[in-house]
Amino acid sequence: MNFKDQIDKSRLPEHIAIIMDGNGRWAKQRGRLRTFGHSSGVKSVRETAEGAAEIGIKYLTLYAFSTENWKRPRSEVNALMTLLVKTLNKEIKTLHDNNIRLLAIGDLKSLPDNTFKELQYAINETAHHDKMAMVLALSYSSRWEIVNAAKIISEKVQKGELTPDDINNDLFSSYLTTANIPDPELLIRTSGEYRISNFLLWQIAYAEFYFTPKLWPDFRREDLFEAIVDFQKRERRFGKTSEQIVSK
Ligand code: FPP
Repeated sequence: MNFKDQIDKSRLPEHIAIIMDGNGRWAKQRGRLRTFGHSSGVKSVRETAEGAAEIGIKYLTLYAFSTENWKRPRSEVNALMTLLVKTLNKEIKTLHDNNIRLLAIGDLKSLPDNTFKELQYAINETAHHDKMAMVLALSYSSRWEIVNAAKIISEKVQKGELTPDDINNDLFSSYLTTANIPDPELLIRTSGEYRISNFLLWQIAYAEFYFTPKLWPDFRREDLFEAIVDFQKRERRFGKTSEQIVSK
């Protein structure tokens, strides 16, 4: 039986987040430039988005560019930004065909003008789709996001618009760039690295982690389905005992 048939549709994670890693190594193994790995990773993005929407996942968040990625060689940063514009432009049809809405999280103001405009255009054009939301994390880092939320909240306290007693988990979450997006239940990282790399640190408090040695350009929808099957075998206790969960 293939992995898709093993998935219990009544217990799907609502939100899956992915750290797409290994593009550079994939290209190097083929004697090609790192940027070839990034452009080859677009097929994996398409396959994963289509597969996720097809089985009924509601949110798919992809770590496409971190705040730290700005420190990569200028040529690689430029190539990634160009690839992003080209991909958004070309793949908007895939989003329409699959009823997928595009969203973005991160310090979007730091993106080059044309990247920001293309992104905003794709977000507006797909805003009416409701099968799944694909969330691109761009110029994103969790520590940036948390510090940013703390700044906004403290300014509001200073102005008397909020009191320290108003600050709780829900209020804090509402000042993150993921406000209105449920926390991911499953976090996947490709390429055999066991790190979180400053991604959704607040939001993954209770997420299940799934690590695969596959490099991102080799990741296909069947790999996504395999991760979901693995997720469904786990017991999520949220701090309770196993007996409490079973007798529920
Ligand atoms: C990590 O691999 C990957 C990235 C920094 C970029 C991800 C971008 C894409 C998959 C292409 C376009 C995506 C969208 C959403 C249009 P790495 O370069 O760190 O690989 P390495 O660890 O092997 O060096």
